[in-house]
Amino acid sequence: MGELRFPKGFVWGVATSSHQIEGGNNNDWTEWEKRAGHPPKVVPSGEAADHWHRYADDYQFISDMNLSGYRFSIEWSRIEPRPGEFNAEAIAHYGKMLAELKKRGITPMVTLHHFTSPLWIENLGGWADPRTVDHFVRFATKVIESFGSGVTFWITLNEPSVQSGLGYMVGIFPPGRKDLLRYWHARRNMLDAHRAVYRLAHKTYKQRGWPEPQVSFAHHMTYVEPANPGSVLDRLCSRVYDYINNSYFLSHSKGYMDFVGVNYYFYRRVHFHLGGPLFIMAEAPVPDAPASDLGWQVVPGGLYSLCKTVSGYGLPIYITENGLADSSDRLRPWSIVHHARAIHRAIFEGVDVRGYFHWTLIDSFEWENGYGFRYGLVAVDYATQKRTPRGSARLYGEIGAGNAISAEMMEKYS
Ligand code: GAL
Repeated sequence: MGELRFPKGFVWGVATSSHQIEGGNNNDWTEWEKRAGHPPKVVPSGEAADHWHRYADDYQFISDMNLSGYRFSIEWSRIEPRPGEFNAEAIAHYGKMLAELKKRGITPMVTLHHFTSPLWIENLGGWADPRTVDHFVRFATKVIESFGSGVTFWITLNEPSVQSGLGYMVGIFPPGRKDLLRYWHARRNMLDAHRAVYRLAHKTYKQRGWPEPQVSFAHHMTYVEPANPGSVLDRLCSRVYDYINNSYFLSHSKGYMDFVGVNYYFYRRVHFHLGGPLFIMAEAPVPDAPASDLGWQVVPGGLYSLCKTVSGYGLPIYITENGLADSSDRLRPWSIVHHARAIHRAIFEGVDVRGYFHWTLIDSFEWENGYGFRYGLVAVDYATQKRTPRGSARLYGEIGAGNAISAEMMEKYS
């Protein structure tokens, strides 16, 4: 097989989020990290990778890998520490980060909300309270007005399905609720927030005469199939799962997305099981699929299928996250090459995939799993803050520089 070339202008990038790398944050998660009775692996995020001070050094790795895109988030609690009170220093700091990216020719994709909210939002009822939508719009207005002239790509919310599910139904994200009604309200409010900020961004850009923005949300999408396709009940479970986790958010955002943003980590085979972990269903493993350090099975083919499915929305697609916890960097090169191949296959069949953002640039705070799991292309020694690129950083850089997967790569990682 020859090399697999990607269309000219395809964006190869990396993704991060503020709370996972910046350090020194003070938000609903930092409070949650202090409280007792959580999932056992939660630890204080503390100084994290101290990216707040080391951002320029970290961007150097993006430049070294010849990547053209960087998705990162702006921390709401830094910008608006008290309702309606904006912190000029924090705004200036994010301005410096954006200027540094511009200097390096790296296209930013800016996330407005990546799992963390200011504590005052949490105290008002968080995403389960409709007033959060208005507060979020006020914050977004400030950020879009401050940075819009230099930013085209916006992600309003990261994974509203995960945030609402883990925070309000499963209870392992703040506010730690297990309450179906609040869960449903949180989903609705997050959708409202997304749509409102979508409208706001377009209106602001038009008023200011800036070129049109590209706005969407990063959707956690799971490829799901019935464990036994011959079983009506298994098929039903798969459809219910797909609706609640995948299509609900997309179909309710029709007309409010300029592209579909796909975060891909999971391929699930479900079967009917009353009282199972997912109420009426349980999961069956994917035969022969390798697993990450977290035990999550890695199945690149699911990304191809999801690209095909979401192409039905008639919009460009960006893979806004995909990666794995792999401290030994044993599986990551294979995973990168095979996910890229899955995307290439979809593009070859006419699907408009325009970019891929690998999760993640540097090792980071992994939410309920703390610091034990390493997703970075670049390793971080938290005792010294020393960064060391892993082997897969070189490989990913070669893919980015060549805009292709070479024949040798395919042979090596077949
Ligand atoms: C995503 C999330 C990221 C990161 C990643 C790896 O769901 O958006 O923040 O934690 O999972 O677990």
